[in-house]
Parts: sequence; C-alpha cells; structure tokens
Amino acid sequence: MSIPRPVKLRCEYLERPQGVDTHLPCFSWQLNHSERGQAQEAYQVLVSADWDEIQDEAGSVWDSGRIESEATVNVAYNGTQLQGSTRYYWRVRWWDNNGSESAYSEVSFFVTGFLISDDWKAQWITMKKPASFTSTINRLLNGIDRNSRQYHAIYLRKTFKIKKNVRNSFVHVSGLGYYELSLNGRKVGDHLLDPGQTDYDHIALYSTFDVTQLLKPGENTLGLILGNGRHIEAYGFSEPKGICQLLVEYENGEKETVITDEQWEASPGPIMENGIYYGERYDARMEMPGWDNADFDNSAWEQVETVQGPPLVSQLMPPIRSSQILKPETLFRPKPGVFIYDFGQNFSGWARLKVKGPAGTEVRLKFSELLDENRMLNIDALGGIEATDVYILKGEGEEFFEPRFTYHGFRYVELTGFPGVPTLENMEGVFLHTDVEKIGDFHCSNQLLNTLHQNIYWGQLSNLTSVPTDCPQRGERMGWMGDIQLVAEEAFYNFQMAPFFFKYLNDIRVAQKEDGSLSDVIPPYWSIYPADPAWGSAYITIAWYCYLFTGSTRILEEHFETMKRYVDFLKESSDGLIIKTLGKYGDWCPPGSVLPKNTPVELTSTWYFYHDTLLLSRIAEAIGREDECRELNSRAREIKKAFNGEFLNNGRYATVTNGQLTRAFLSQTSQALPLYLDMVPEDQKDRALRLLKRAVVVQSDSHLDTGIVGTRYIFDVLTENNEAEAAFKVATQKTFPSWGYMIEEGATTLWERWEKLEGGGMNSHNHIMLGSIDAWFYRTIAGIVPLEPGWKKVGIRPHLLGDLTDASAALKTVRGEIAVSWEKLGDRVRIVISIPVNISAEVCVPAFGEKTRIKESGTTIWPAEEGADSVPGIIPVEAEQDFVRFKVSSGFYEFEAFEY
Ligand code: BGC
Repeated sequence: MSIPRPVKLRCEYLERPQGVDTHLPCFSWQLNHSERGQAQEAYQVLVSADWDEIQDEAGSVWDSGRIESEATVNVAYNGTQLQGSTRYYWRVRWWDNNGSESAYSEVSFFVTGFLISDDWKAQWITMKKPASFTSTINRLLNGIDRNSRQYHAIYLRKTFKIKKNVRNSFVHVSGLGYYELSLNGRKVGDHLLDPGQTDYDHIALYSTFDVTQLLKPGENTLGLILGNGRHIEAYGFSEPKGICQLLVEYENGEKETVITDEQWEASPGPIMENGIYYGERYDARMEMPGWDNADFDNSAWEQVETVQGPPLVSQLMPPIRSSQILKPETLFRPKPGVFIYDFGQNFSGWARLKVKGPAGTEVRLKFSELLDENRMLNIDALGGIEATDVYILKGEGEEFFEPRFTYHGFRYVELTGFPGVPTLENMEGVFLHTDVEKIGDFHCSNQLLNTLHQNIYWGQLSNLTSVPTDCPQRGERMGWMGDIQLVAEEAFYNFQMAPFFFKYLNDIRVAQKEDGSLSDVIPPYWSIYPADPAWGSAYITIAWYCYLFTGSTRILEEHFETMKRYVDFLKESSDGLIIKTLGKYGDWCPPGSVLPKNTPVELTSTWYFYHDTLLLSRIAEAIGREDECRELNSRAREIKKAFNGEFLNNGRYATVTNGQLTRAFLSQTSQALPLYLDMVPEDQKDRALRLLKRAVVVQSDSHLDTGIVGTRYIFDVLTENNEAEAAFKVATQKTFPSWGYMIEEGATTLWERWEKLEGGGMNSHNHIMLGSIDAWFYRTIAGIVPLEPGWKKVGIRPHLLGDLTDASAALKTVRGEIAVSWEKLGDRVRIVISIPVNISAEVCVPAFGEKTRIKESGTTIWPAEEGADSVPGIIPVEAEQDFVRFKVSSGFYEFEAFEY
C-alpha cells in the first residue's frame, strides 16, 4: 500500500533557501497518514545538482540509502562535498511502521552561497566623495545628536557582456547600511531593507539570488543603490559601501564572474537624504532614466574607489518584505493644507503615495502613532527624530513614491504640500517586517483575548526588522535583549523563528566581550556593557527556545562555550552569589513607573543568574557535556541557597537587611519568580503561594502589579499551582492596569507602559515586551505544550477557564500541524485534536469527578475499569483531580467528556 509522500520540505528551516553557506545543511519534512499511531520507520534522501537526475529518482551528490530512523527534522546532509553557488535539488521518501513505502516527495531545492570565504573575489566599493547631510540620531537614551552626518544615497553601475547562452547565474550581494540591486533595470529579488543589521565592524550579511532569467545576450548592466541604514558615523561607521559578485555559467560549461572593483562607476541620484530615523528625501527631477541599463549616457558618472569591509556571511533567514498593503480608513483635514490619513492600525513600514502636479512641488509625509487633542499629528514621543519622507515631483503625470532606505512605526500619516485635495486613493500603507513564516493560530470565545492576540501579532511583526527591536517608531528601534527574551516563547508559538534567532544568537556571540559580558542592546550600536542580567539572559533563553521548538542541538553546541563564558561572567560579578551591581532596569515598567517599584533589582538580577545557570546545565545535558552539566547544576544549587538566604523570609520575598524585610509592599514579581523555578523550600511554599495569590487577588483586585519580567512568569506560576482561574481573571481585565484597558483605549498593538501616556518620554504604543501573555493562550487555554524538544512529544491540556465556551489553536510545528479545539456543549465538553505522524501526545481531558465518562469518536474509553473499549491510538493512563490523562499517538481524535 502506498502512503502519502512527504511534504513541506525545508532546508535550514527555510523553504528553498538561497545562499546556504554551511557545509552540512539540515533538512526536514512532514508526514501525513490516514492511519492512527503512525511513525516513520525509515527514510531516504536524494540530492542532486542535476534536474533530470533527480527527476529520475537518483542522487549522485547524496543518496542516503534507506536510513532506519524516525528523524524528520535536523537531518544533516551527509553526501559529497557541496560546491558554492550551485543549485541542489532534493527529495525524500519514507516508510511507515507497517513497512509501507511512500513515493518520493516533490522536488525541492537549495542554492549554496560561498562555502569558502576565499571564493569572494569582489571588493567593497563606494563613491569617492558622496554628498552628506545632518540629521538627528539618538546615540543613547537621551543622548540626542542633532548634527549627525549621513550620506546621500550612492548609485553604482557596471556594464558587462554576456557572450553565449546562459545555463545558470547567481549573484551574491551586500551593501551597508542598505542596498537595492537591479539588473537591466529590474530589481533583483523581493528583499527590502537588505541586508539584515549586524555589527559591521565584525560581520556583514549577503544575499544570494538566481538571476538567470534577468540576463540577456549582449550588454547587461548591474545597478546598486546604497543607503545609510545603521552604517553611520554616529555608530562608528562611515559612508555606505557595497559588494557584489555575479557568476555566470554558460551552457557549454564555461564560467564567468562579474565583481565590484574600481571599474564600476558612481553617481548621486534622486534619493538624497535617507536614514532610518530621518526618513527619505526623493527628488524625482534628479531621476536618471535608464541608469541601470546598458544604453545610458554615463559621462557624468565617476570612477568608484575600493575600500575595506567586514567579512561576509550569508543571510540565512527570511528577508524583510512587504507582507500586506493597508488601505487608509479615514482621511481628514485638521487645518488648511494639512491632511491626516488614519490606517486604523499601528504598524511598521512606510506609505506609498500617488500624486500628480507641477514639477518641483514638495510633498511631505510625516509619521506618528498618535494624534493630539486638535487631531493634528502628535510627535512628542518620537524622541526628536524627523520621521518624514519628502517627495519632489518631476511633473510628468501620475507619479508614485515609496521610500527605500527608511521605515516608520505609525498609524497616522500627515500629508502636507499636496497639490490639490488628496483622497483615500492617494495613499497606501506597506507593512514591512522580517518575513517569518506564521505558524500559530489562536482563537477563543472571548473577544477581548482575540483582539489582544491580534495586537500581539501586529506588535511582534512590527518589531522584527532583521533584529528584534523594542519599538518601530521613535529614535530607538534597537535590539534590546530584555524585550525579546521575555517574548521569545510567544514568538516561537506564532512564527517559525529559528532562522531569525540563529542569526541573532550569532549577533550576540559577536558582541560578547573577552570577559564574557554582553550589551543590553545587540547589535551594540548602543554599546551598553555589561547588560542587566534580565537583558543578558536573552543569549541562553533564546538558544533554549530554539532547541525546544526545533530540537536542534547544533545551535546549542555552536554557542555552548560562549554561553558558558557569559554565566561565568555573572558569577565573577556576584558578591557571595548575589548580583548587586549589574541590574539597571530589573522588573522594568510596572504600573505607574518605568523603574521597578517593589521588586528589588538585586532580586531579579540574582534570579536570572540562577535561571541562566540552571538552563545552561540543561543545555549541557542535551549535548552530552556531563561534567559541565554537573558543575552548573551544583553551582545553581548554591545560587538558590544564596538567593533564599538573601531575599526570603517566611514565605515572603523581598530585600532582607539584618534579618528584616526592607520593602513594605509585597511584590507580585518577587513572589512569582522563585515559584516559577521551584526555588522555594517545601515548608515555605504554601505560604509563598498564598501571599502571591493575596497580592494579585486581594491587594491588586485581580490586576497585575508587575513590570515586564513578572508579567512573563506570573501566569505560568498561577496556572501551575491550580490558580489558572485567577490568572484568567487578570488576563481579561478591562481596567487599568491591563491589556484590556489598552484595548478599551484604542490600542491596536501593545503599549510600552501600562498607563495611557501621550506626551514626551517613554510611552511607545508599539512595544512587544508585554506580549508574553500570548504564549499562555497557546499553553493554557488551548493547552499545547512541548514535552520534548522539537515537538517529539506534546502535552495537550486545555483549561476551560472563566466564561469561555470554546477555544482553538493550531500550530505548524517542525513535525507538522498540531491542532486542538474544544467547546462546552451544555454540561459536556468536546475536544478535537489532531496529532501529526511522528509525534506522541499526552492528552488531558477535563473530568467531572468520580462520575466522568469519556468517549472518543463515540466509543467509551473511560472509566477504564468499566470495560471501556480499547480504541486504536489511545492508552488511558490515570485520572487526576481535574482531568483524565491519555497517551495518544498520531491521528485525529474527537473526545467527549460528561458526567453520567
Ligand atoms: C526601550 C526598552 C528597553 C529599555 C531598557 C527602553 O528605552 O524602549 O524597551 O528594554 O529601554 O531600559
């Protein structure tokens, strides 16, 4: 019998990646089967550089043969040495545990980048004396530099000859800060704001594109435009520079290379001022029609110069793309000549303008999240940056403008200088972000929670622009590590984050100092060493989630030494294993404050010291580093002892001085953190929990009093300790401080602060750091939890909380889609689940005390002792207080539970 063939083939967790620069890329695929309880018994992978060969089911580059293994993820390439700049086709088939064999999958492919860095022959080039301008740059918080120098965009070109018929052609390209490449007048690829941001002193990313179709016989022209991005003097860099290497393989096997060198030509062009914070100034009168085509008068162009540049690695993650075009909801005129477009949604990106008018007309677009009381744009909270795009018309009929080398965080656009009266048709919004694959879906019967989930979706994507940013609008947009580490789990539930985070972990490693310390912001354009431990924890926390969600031990191995150096740094910085000096922000932004109020910073710092040490011991275990595992474990025990000695007094956590608690108020965060990691001595645990519950339910009337740190953990702590109902009440509040309050006040993303603030200062309306709650929706309301790394085993335990009548979630994991949906039907509960091949599950079906009956697809399966029928794929395990636990294998199941 034939079984369905593998689908969703991925290489390095990416669909058909280009620029694979690892010698041993890893593969994955997913399986379907009509029978329950199926797993892969064996697989066979074929890799070939030849299309006809792979069609004929042969792989001369790698034929794995039949491999007895259940692995469908992280299958490492094991064939002959891969060559650079080559397209490899691959396919796979599998055998199920009845011994049935599938047909081969459809053919997928990957394209290699440079596998040996020597293969780079191209040189970095730039224009000799590009024009400059000054703008506002936030050097550091409050360190505003209004006269920071940046450069006009640089246009580069090179004409070359194609002599024969082309079989294949790939181009590898980078440009700092940003580039756009064209070939014969057509943009190459769909990347925007490329390459991803890195620390350009050490590393730059290049992209690889197949340009076979863009080449033509005879003269061809490469065009490269360079913008500033983060490659600016304020951060220690200089004028933009670019590098590009085009490889052509003719049909007769002959090869040719076109590289950036001193023979290229440079010119200024229509993109004048451009900067991430600044915006873009485009003078259409300066356009040079045909500049990136061969038949162009280049007499005004000058020779480029070659310059030094950083080493290059491939950008093996999704690029920034436009994922959605938004239509404005309303347009109004708060005063003559000023028009405001409202997109009804806060997001990251830019606006596209359609305009017609006389040459030289200067149209301005200014971006903000907020309006003031006169319905004018409120820019108080932008940190003094310009955030303005300017388009100067050429006066030739209908003109279209969208910028290239900037982006904004906004809901409103102020349009001035428009010739005539604009309509809704004159503007569109372009949603831009790193185009991570969306893998999660969540929905429930509570509208507020659905809206919150939506807001987190928009907020998370708005803050993925090749680095995880704090916010997309003001003069920051930096890789603040605290923000992302706290939402890493949420991000992994919603998106395939692995390639993005692999790159970011590399950014972290590159930024690490000799002494092991990290910067709060990475890449360290703002160099803030040593990081607050709650921020530095990003290194180990993100690596852990990469492992948990993909099962990749490779990433742990690659970073183990440097992660170890980081926890050793924490130890060196401690005083009797208490961290007193590194903390700066701690439980950042609790209600009514930016600084933590009742939670001692030493407590959060020391807790993270414990957290990271413990997690690294688990990482050591996962990669078989037994000695380090033991050492880290025993160190963690010591830290726990020191932590309790310093902060614990009879079930209550705070700062203790001379045996006395020095904080009058009980802090929800201080109470929740040690419970989360099970640090509370047994004899004080009940009281610690009682105090936490009282702090939440009584003292705060079922509201949070936590900053970003406590908010991340408190829901899990309450849930784990049978207080999920209390957590639900907090999650669904509509009064301050709560997410519901933000939504009632019109939020379409998440705010930085619990309070509604619209003046100057720290009050972004699109921060993601309070978005951790979304993971709790998946974990608790839908009840989907990874029990083994890479979703080899999943726990399914829906919580039927509050007045919820139904909920559902689907998760496209690396092993296939896990789906859960439940509904209350009168006094019955129906739960439908779907478990992919190769995943086993532990399903907890809600129980109704002694007299619970559970059916699956109509057959009674509980109580077991009442002669319940056995059903394929399910083994009843045990009844606990609120649920009955079953062992379930792959397949589709419909449970129904009721009281008889
Ligand atoms: C950023 C934060 C960041 C914090 C650290 C802020 O300015 O926007 O999100 O984590 O500084 O204190």
